Amino acid sequence: MEQMLVPQIDLILALSKSLDLISPAIVGHHMRVAFLSLNMGLMLNLKKEDIKDLTYAALLHDVGALSLEERLDCLEFDLKEPHFHSIVGHRLIRMHKPFEKVSNLIRHHHVRWDNIYEHNKRKIEVPFGSQILYLADRVDVLIDRNNDLGNQVDYIIKQIQDERGKKFCPEVVDAFIESIQSKDAWQRLGSNSMASIFYNLLGDEILNIDELLDISKIFEKIIDFRSRFTATHSSGVAHVACKLAEFSGMSQMETKMMKVAGNLHDLGKLAVSDKILEKPEKLTKDEFNSVKNHVYYTYSILKKIRGIGKIYEWAGLHHERLDGEGGYPFNKKGEDLSQGARIMAVADIFTAVSEDRPYRKGMGKKRALSLLDQMAKRNKIDGDIVSILKSNHDEINEGRINVQNQVVVEFNEFWNEVNRLR
Ligand SMILES: [Fe+2]
Ligand SMILES: [Fe+2]
Ligand SMILES: [Fe+2]
Repeated sequence: MEQMLVPQIDLILALSKSLDLISPAIVGHHMRVAFLSLNMGLMLNLKKEDIKDLTYAALLHDVGALSLEERLDCLEFDLKEPHFHSIVGHRLIRMHKPFEKVSNLIRHHHVRWDNIYEHNKRKIEVPFGSQILYLADRVDVLIDRNNDLGNQVDYIIKQIQDERGKKFCPEVVDAFIESIQSKDAWQRLGSNSMASIFYNLLGDEILNIDELLDISKIFEKIIDFRSRFTATHSSGVAHVACKLAEFSGMSQMETKMMKVAGNLHDLGKLAVSDKILEKPEKLTKDEFNSVKNHVYYTYSILKKIRGIGKIYEWAGLHHERLDGEGGYPFNKKGEDLSQGARIMAVADIFTAVSEDRPYRKGMGKKRALSLLDQMAKRNKIDGDIVSILKSNHDEINEGRINVQNQVVVEFNEFWNEVNRLR
């Protein structure tokens, strides 16, 4: 029996890093907030389970800030509208059942301590961990990363102390101050050694393929919901790729892996500003390069996940072309492109041309298949896979339409619920 075992922390770290790619101003934010939160959790003698949830929540806490603007807004010490991204994040992370508690921590990560009473009156419980996460997050936005951290300690402590019993829970403020007294803590903050602490604490949680698939669906939504132009794209690609894998004789395990790869194939688009993704005019050369880079990020980020198998390759090489021309990011040639990567390329193109987008209708069967045929003739994509698609077109395409229609329903429900919770 084939097995696939992925340490959950590897996956979450990969996803966490991808959230911070959108701007140099944010790089490493999630990791540092997680590191600070974890240290406070230890100082406060929280239970191991609670520290774990807190660390996962911190690694993903701004996941609901989908646009560059919102992410940069989160860097302000006093946020004007902090709860929207908290609720979006909560709603996204909750899609994975075991992350129920993690999602609640995220939901309240901007609730001031002196506001908790108000929340309780409205029968909303604010978990203690959210107070830790809130403080850790605010500490990180106070840090000037262009200057030596050591010189800023006093300033930061003063800012936090001033809000003791107002913005911040007194107990958490004290734990923070105690936890950063050691020079070591400051030196490690922002260094590569942070990851080893996460591995030590969380390394024993291993995901099987179904759990991996479940978490990949959250990221599929995050990637797609950023732009209304492509709000169902990854789910369509995942479906088509998985079906092509099945019809070309791949094992059940491999078809599930293909689905994960489809869900995550555009992960690197999180590094691309939503303004570029939605720009109606022609992109400048720089903008186009930034879009092209998305596959490089997908490839390199997923590759670091232990136990991920070929998923990173299938996902990350979907814009390469068999003749080695015009593909990116590596300009690989046919002999370097596995069956899985070839399937993903066909699934991506087929879905992209067939799906309806707000500014145009998708191509019908005849046009879409003839376009793929021509690409196969020019040795851009694999002709055998195109043949499999042609032989099973109606079944595959009907499934794609159903899956994408279902996501439209989820998309609308999602935003309705977010607006209700606001
Ligand atoms: Fe936030
Ligand atoms: Fe944050
Ligand atoms: Fe792509």
